[in-house]
Amino acid sequence: MVAAPGKRGRWLQEAGLYDFAPDRTLAKPVLYRDLTDAARALVAEESDGVANMANVAALLWQWLPQLNWAGFYRVIDGELVLGPFIGKPACIRIAFGQGVCGAAAALGKTQRVDDVHAFPGHIACDADSAAELVVPVLRDGKVIAVIDLDSPVRGRFDGEDVEGIERLAAAIAEAIAN
Ligand code: SME
Repeated sequence: MVAAPGKRGRWLQEAGLYDFAPDRTLAKPVLYRDLTDAARALVAEESDGVANMANVAALLWQWLPQLNWAGFYRVIDGELVLGPFIGKPACIRIAFGQGVCGAAAALGKTQRVDDVHAFPGHIACDADSAAELVVPVLRDGKVIAVIDLDSPVRGRFDGEDVEGIERLAAAIAEAIAN
């Protein structure tokens, strides 16, 4: 049995794949609801955390416009280590408290940055990045990973993006930890 693919997903039986169709004309809260449904469906039947992070990174990339990087850093032995992502090769290890990702991990709080050049300690992995959203993924109250989104558009992320990605993070937390 496969998981229900969510409202905008279609299970391609022969190909063994989900076919999702993000409708970018939808209001952002609806888009995020659909994205979260799709992510839930994708991770529902799989226990491997890396596979699940890889598919969620792909969904983020497919669903959200104006991104140049989308993916995960995982907490391993007290530091952030690069996880599945789409975008240019990135910084592999980030200490807690360092950069936007390290701040999100250390504080356990979402970091929304309109202009990364104005963020003290920002780590530039891709010179195109102008705005960044980093959302911690919590399990049993502990940060186990962060979701990192970069955009070449200054001020790209707003409160609806924060809410949408925080909901997504809560929905997949169990499925990305091995
Ligand atoms: N800019 C991040 C580093 C990770 S890359 O954006 C992929 C930071 O300041 O933590």
